[in-house]
Amino acid sequence: MSESLDTRRIMVTGGAGFIGSHLVKKLLNEGHSVLNVDSLTYAGNLSSLAGFVDHPEYRFLQVDVCEEGKITQAISHFQPDWIFHLAAETHVDRSIGGPMEFFRSNVTGTVSLLRGATSYWESLSDAKKAGFRFIHTSTDEVFGSAHVGCRFNETSAYAPGSPYSASKAASDHAVRAWGNTYGLPVAVTNCSNNYGSFQFPEKLIPVVITNALRGNPIPVYGQGLQVRDWLHVYDHCQALVLIAQKGKIGDTYIIAGNDEWRNIDVVELVCGILEKRMGSRPEIEFVADRKGHDFRYSLDSSKIRNELGWSPLRSSKDGFEETVAWYFENRNWWESILMKNSGKV
Ligand SMILES: NC(=O)c1ccc[n+]([C@@H]2O[C@H](COP(=O)([O-])OP(=O)(O)OC[C@H]3O[C@@H](n4cnc5c(N)ncnc54)[C@H](O)[C@@H]3O)[C@@H](O)[C@H]2O)c1
Repeated sequence: MSESLDTRRIMVTGGAGFIGSHLVKKLLNEGHSVLNVDSLTYAGNLSSLAGFVDHPEYRFLQVDVCEEGKITQAISHFQPDWIFHLAAETHVDRSIGGPMEFFRSNVTGTVSLLRGATSYWESLSDAKKAGFRFIHTSTDEVFGSAHVGCRFNETSAYAPGSPYSASKAASDHAVRAWGNTYGLPVAVTNCSNNYGSFQFPEKLIPVVITNALRGNPIPVYGQGLQVRDWLHVYDHCQALVLIAQKGKIGDTYIIAGNDEWRNIDVVELVCGILEKRMGSRPEIEFVADRKGHDFRYSLDSSKIRNELGWSPLRSSKDGFEETVAWYFENRNWWESILMKNSGKV
């Protein structure tokens, strides 16, 4: 049961990953009770929650979202007001080499969670039912590559171009189907590229920083001409909470920074920030392009801005600077992750 109108019991899946760990910390800081459910794959790190694991309102359950029996039990035991679903396999390159795990975690895992959430939700009183929310966190990649001049919105057709985005697209469809068929109060969110602290060092910004700090060249796919929109992870988390509070049940919300960059320009900008700190400019190495690399993602986020009054508080120029500083100051965090993933520990 909720303690008051403002504090809630909130289940977060994938809470030891990049965005999930920021969301868990934000929710605890705002006075909510949080159950973090995460199987701790290579991308999950409890060290991202250091300082919060002993918080009296924090609970952690290490379980795979595909394990429907355990998930159903966890939901009925914790009695959440809201569920934020973030657990997923997320790296496009890994999805090209090993797509099956993406469809298992992202599609079967989402359906398992939806089934557990629905049986719990159906058991609630009408008042509790009305306040319940299932917020699904998805990506702009489900729309595929955008032609120059085109921006995707909530009504755009899906055309996923990678095994990762195809698995996320399937999970989005499942969430909408559960809203339509069973009446579960869902919302789907499609967000652009996030950056910030605690991001696993295989994604673009940490790849640039951690390679530079180890004296390695910075690998850039093709000529680095692909275009992406960038959003600080704090702004994404703020949007997710706002959608749970004020979003319309059954709706989709595009979340984006309106901050589009070619990859090479992002890399050059981050290299410039690194040069100021290190005294020398990191070397860039163009490498063979990713298979089926989508050229451009572009989103129109007017709906969440106009209807819910959301807008990002940080520009990427400032945010990249702050992110570089964080990776400089938190070498232990990313070095121990790289060590663990290289099989050295
Ligand atoms: N990072 C981005 O730029 C971005 C942008 C838009 C949407 N998203 C979406 O946001 C969510 C979180 O992304 P992220 O970047 O934080 O990912 P991440 O890879 O950093 O973290 C994913 C977390 O999910 C957990 N997980 C994976 N499979 C699981 C399973 N079967 N059962 C339980 N836990 C499992 C991992 O252990 C990890 O802690 C994902 O759904 C992703 O598709 C990410």
